[in-house]
Order: sequence, then C-alpha cells, then structure tokens
Amino acid sequence: MATRLEALGGTSDLLPDETARWQAVEARARAILHCYGYQEIRTPILEYAEVFLQSLGEATEIVQKQMYLFEDRGGRRVALRPEGTASAVRAYLEHGLDKTAGLVKWYYIGPMFRAERPQAGRRRQFHQLGVEVFGSASPHRDAEVLALLMDLLNALGLRTAILKVNNLGCREDRPKMLSGLRAYYEPRRRELCSECQQRLVVNPLRILDCKQPACQALAQGPELFACTKCKGHFSDVLHDLENTFGMKQSQDYVFEKRLVRGLDYYTRTAFEVTHPGLGAQDAIGGGGRYDDLVQQMGGPATPAIGFALGLERVLMALDAEQVAPAPPTPPAVFVATLGEAAQTKGLELLHRLRQAGVAAEGEYEGRSLKRQLESANKLRCAVVLMLGEDELAKGTVALRDMQTRQQTEVAWEACVAEVRRRVTPAAAVRA
Ligand code: HAM
Repeated sequence: MATRLEALGGTSDLLPDETARWQAVEARARAILHCYGYQEIRTPILEYAEVFLQSLGEATEIVQKQMYLFEDRGGRRVALRPEGTASAVRAYLEHGLDKTAGLVKWYYIGPMFRAERPQAGRRRQFHQLGVEVFGSASPHRDAEVLALLMDLLNALGLRTAILKVNNLGCREDRPKMLSGLRAYYEPRRRELCSECQQRLVVNPLRILDCKQPACQALAQGPELFACTKCKGHFSDVLHDLENTFGMKQSQDYVFEKRLVRGLDYYTRTAFEVTHPGLGAQDAIGGGGRYDDLVQQMGGPATPAIGFALGLERVLMALDAEQVAPAPPTPPAVFVATLGEAAQTKGLELLHRLRQAGVAAEGEYEGRSLKRQLESANKLRCAVVLMLGEDELAKGTVALRDMQTRQQTEVAWEACVAEVRRRVTPAAAVRA
C-alpha cells in the first residue's frame, strides 16, 4: 500500500483554534475535579495486551474487533489503550495502592484508540476524561460520582444532556439475569437480527444494546434480574440523587432498564449520558461500578466505580447547544521595529517582556510599520511598542494603546513596567 503523508482515517489534527477550546474545557474540568478531591494520573498509551484482554470481556466488541493489537519489535503482544479503566486498575495494583492507600480517587485526560469505522462522533483516536474511585462500596459514592458527572457537564455549559441509569446486579446475579434474558428471547429468536441470534448464545445482555429496530422493539422486555441487596443499593443511590442532589426522575435522570454497557466489567449501578444534539453516536459519556475488576486482574476484592466522557462528543454537544467557545488568549504586546538596529533592540525588548511574564509578539521581516500594525491588530494585541531610529537615539520606546489609539513616549528602562501596568493579568502569563 502506498504511504500517504496525511493523517490516518479516524484520527485528526487539532489546530490552535481548536486546542484553545480543548484547553478551556480541560481547565474547567480540572477545577471541578479538584473540588471533588480527584488527583490526576497519566498512564502509558501502550500496554501489554493482557491488561485489556483480562478485563474488558472476551465477547465485547472492543476485544473482538476494535483493539489496536500488535507485536512490538521484541515480540511482545501490546495494545494501544482502548479505554482508561483497565490501565488505572493495572497501575493501582502495580504500585501497591491496594495495600496502602485506602480510598483512591483518580482522574485522567488523554487519547484512546479503537479501530472502529469512522463516522460523526466515532473516531479511531479519541479523547476521554475519566475518573476512577477505588475502595468505596457505599451507594453514597455512586450518587456523588453521578453528581460530579452532571456537575462537569453543567460547568462546561451543557444543559440538555440526559442521564440514564440502570442496575446491573452483582456477579452472583449474572447467571439468573442471563437465563432470564434467554428465557425471554428464545421464543422470539427468529425476530432477532443474525448477530443477536449469536449473542443469545454468547452474551444475551448485548442484545439490549443492538441498534437494529427489530431487536430494539423486542428489548422492551422485563427488567434485569438483581438480588435484594443490589436492589437496595440501587434504590439508595436513587434516593441520594433525588434528596441530596435534587435530581428528579424523568426530568434530570431516567431509569433505563435496557441500559447495558459495551464493556463486561460492570456491576450494580451503570449509567450513560446521551445528548439529543448528536446523531447516531449520542453517548457523551458512561460508566458505573466495577466491584469485581480489581480482583479479576489479580488484586484483592476492591469495590470501584468510575466514568469517562468522550471529549470530542462533549465538544460536538457544546456546538449543538451553541455554547460559544472560549476565545484564545491573545498576546498582550506587539513589538514593531523599523530598521536593522531597531530589530536587534526589538528582539531584546521581546525577551525582557517575556521574562517579565508578558505575552509578546514581534517580527523581523523588515515590513512597513503599517503592515506591522495590521499584524498587531489581527493578533488582538492591547499595546504596540514601536522602535525606530529616533527612539534608539533618544533611549525611548513609542507606546501605542490599540484601543484608544493614543501614543506616548516611554523611557526604554521603564517600558516593561509600563506595559505590565496596562495589560490585564490574563495576558501577563507569569505572576
Ligand atoms: P465507554 O462507554 O466505552 O466507557 O466510553 C466512554 C465514552 O467515550 C463514550 O460515551 C463516548 O463518548 C466516548 N467514545 C467511545 N468510543 C469512541 C469513539 N470511537 N470515538 C469517539 N468517542 C468515543 C469506557 O471507556 C469506560 N472505561 C468508562 C469507565 C470509567 N467506566 C468506569 N470507569
């Protein structure tokens, strides 16, 4: 196959207009996460494939079809991470936090990889903001994590996201749940799509997730089986949502008895957030409890819960709601120079400004003053400092306020302090 010098399908470059937006979203999210007491982890993008093969579920689409799985040069079987939870559990165990840390509350922001057919909202490289909590079984924790999820979306400006919750029961419930589903679907087998007919054998829970209209119509079956304890846990979570966080059923969240997740590790509370402004790929985030996963990956029994937001989809949802993107912060100052000697002095001035924490821009192409002022205008600089032969001779700098268009002469030594006095703290990046 010919090598093409372009980005792979389903991956994208983010150019500065977009990264400014991403940074604004990330900064807002970090502030909220900090309020809730989460700390950041950064795990490798590349992991031993086993990390995911042992955790996500053999019959899941991710493991079956979507993992970027390959042998590295040393013959090791590795994978680009398709999600963050398995890596977090691996890191939690590898660093012995199960033995020392008590409650662990982590968040991460970073790229994930799934070899899916690209379409709107479905990328091969996409970004997740995820949280994982280890060591808490309390239903209050589930409610708090859900409140954080909705708080994050709210703080980013989203108003119409829909939270769907369901109870997936515990490991002991699973055989009863599956046989209940088989008993319901078996007599209706012929009405299912061919893939779901297979799912009926391998993992009937997946049928509930099928997008085929015929299968969807059938999925209006009974609630999933859950034992008394799991039912109690779930109703405690809903109680907290209603009474502590003021969320009303149907209005702020919906109980979705068909909700299952695309990964097998979930137990008890499972949830998803969808957005009406997106197309077929309308899930902007999802998560739930995974009380068995730490043990399944070789650790002690450790209750855990988390979620991940798909950031591309969050941004699409913000677009759909017409939430204005945060404008990028412009440089505060433009240094315009006339003549070669002034250029050298201009370079020095730019350095002094930046050392003093002022974002500054300038050029050395010898263009006319008019053109340089046009550049300053385009960059939305608040102040232009001008240096020509006159200024060099007098040891001054001409300072032009771009808003009032007033021009003043400032002594060379005093000009950095004068600029700092005039520009907003946001433009002066160093304190
Ligand atoms: P997930 O539902 O597979 O869960 O992914 C979470 C979110 O990532 C989705 O709701 C979606 O917004 C986004 N996403 C997934 N695949 C793609 C794609 N191909 N292109 C664009 N966005 C995508 C997890 O990954 C779990 N690890 C979440 C979790 C954390 N559960 C417990 N803790």
